Amino acid sequence: MKTALYPGSFDPATLGHMDIIARVSKLFSRVVVAVLVNPAKNGLFLPEERAELLKSLCKSYPNVEVRMHGGLVAELVKSVGADVIVKGVRDAADFSYETTMAYYNRALTGGVETLFLPADEKFRHISSSAVKELAAHGADIGEYVPAETERALKERFQHG
Ligand code: PNS
Repeated sequence: MKTALYPGSFDPATLGHMDIIARVSKLFSRVVVAVLVNPAKNGLFLPEERAELLKSLCKSYPNVEVRMHGGLVAELVKSVGADVIVKGVRDAADFSYETTMAYYNRALTGGVETLFLPADEKFRHISSSAVKELAAHGADIGEYVPAETERALKERFQHG
């Protein structure tokens, strides 16, 4: 049984994230989606809220579990027994950033590789930050996020 770890901020989960989860769930027998807590970065949603939303969004995938983690990705690799780390890559900027992270994580884990999945064409432009900005101004974000994320954002910004 192979386990893939998909770490991220997920503040909040978008259709781009959900597409990666759907694709990874077909490639590995077990997928751990992890909300990484960065104490230096104040998100719009609390890590607990992001994880709850993801849990609900991943309900239909029996091989996907959701966690929250306050340390390094490498620690989580060990504690969940991950064989590989998975990241979605939208463009050259993502590739550059993720490649650096992959080097650190390979060194810290004694060889665990990071697998890059190219973002689907439909979702290449979607980012949590853009979606939050649009939602803050009351713009329609329905084509970028799952309905549950849209509801959570509307509630947060009191536009719905
Ligand atoms: O969804 P994001 O914002 O691209 O996720 C980035 C994240 C959370 C995966 C990254 O910041 C991260 O790995 N943070 C944990 C700290 C860590 O393990 N760093 C790796 C070596 S510097």
